[in-house]
Amino acid sequence: MLTTFLFLLLTGNPSLALPAITSNSCTRETLHQHTESYLSAQTAGNPLLLLGTTAAPIVYTEDFVSRPISSSILNTPLRISHNRSLLDTTQCATYTELIVTDPANSRVIGTQIRFNPSGDTIQKIETLVTMEGDWAFNASLTYFYANRETENNLWFTIPKAERDSRQVIQAAADAYLDLFNDPTVKVPWGTPCNRLEGSWYTGNFTATDSCNVGVPTGVVIKDRRYVIDETVGTVDAFVLFGTRPDSHEFRVERGKLRLVHTLTVMRNVTG
Ligand SMILES: *[C@@H]1O[C@H](CO)[C@@H](O)[C@H](O)[C@H]1NC(C)=O
Ligand SMILES: *[C@@H]1O[C@H](CO)[C@@H](O)[C@H](O)[C@H]1NC(C)=O
Ligand SMILES: *[C@@H]1O[C@H](CO)[C@@H](O)[C@H](O)[C@H]1NC(C)=O
Repeated sequence: MLTTFLFLLLTGNPSLALPAITSNSCTRETLHQHTESYLSAQTAGNPLLLLGTTAAPIVYTEDFVSRPISSSILNTPLRISHNRSLLDTTQCATYTELIVTDPANSRVIGTQIRFNPSGDTIQKIETLVTMEGDWAFNASLTYFYANRETENNLWFTIPKAERDSRQVIQAAADAYLDLFNDPTVKVPWGTPCNRLEGSWYTGNFTATDSCNVGVPTGVVIKDRRYVIDETVGTVDAFVLFGTRPDSHEFRVERGKLRLVHTLTVMRNVTG
């Protein structure tokens, strides 16, 4: 604060002084409030509950195609059956997984939101809205497995002393994603480990469940945009899976993969 004050005195220019006061102001509390606003907006079908009334310019994409927020999924009220969010205070970003089983509009949605460093302005919203026609789509079944993971407390908050660093969490994700184009990559498989891909579940909720049950080869996974929350050892990456808009989310414990959730858009989407 003192430096900011001196800087102001010296330059008389408040806009130049801004970076000095923005460090460390993107807190979990701030990000949690934003994810709550996002859920309210999507529940009501009213984007203003997320955006507020200030018309800051925002990049908005749906299935990686830019579109006006006024014609986005945020204008459709959805009855949300399940939500879980990652809070990344380092990048000032969030990821939210939503499942809507309501047959009127069944959807499984993943949304990354990026803020300015002080966490008060949205800069970018990217959302993947999966539905009938997408990879293994069945929202009721996805809900069944996601809810069972929650009931079994598989996404618990990791005690501080046992948390992996951002680098370790991201490296586990990258190893898995690299495997699709390089079979020699060493992936830190954990046990038990389960993959929820659309509504397809690899495991059984038993101690021996493995995620090493085959991945296709020859798929380049690029344009990776991460949101990382060390408190739950989890990273979400929005990627191009070959040519498909895709989300891969990984839960990592002590450097090893334990849970994977994926969403893959298979419809040919256009703006
Ligand atoms: C989001 O999930 C939490 C539990 O993790 C729940 O308490 C809350 O009501 C949910 N919010 C909505 C809008 O469904
Ligand atoms: C989704 O899965 C449930 C449970 O297996 C099944 O009963 C239902 O028919 C499936 N829905 C569709 C549209 O395939
Ligand atoms: C699930 O468990 C049953 C019996 O416990 C076993 O036969 C089956 O192979 C298991 N499936 C998977 C995918 O692990």
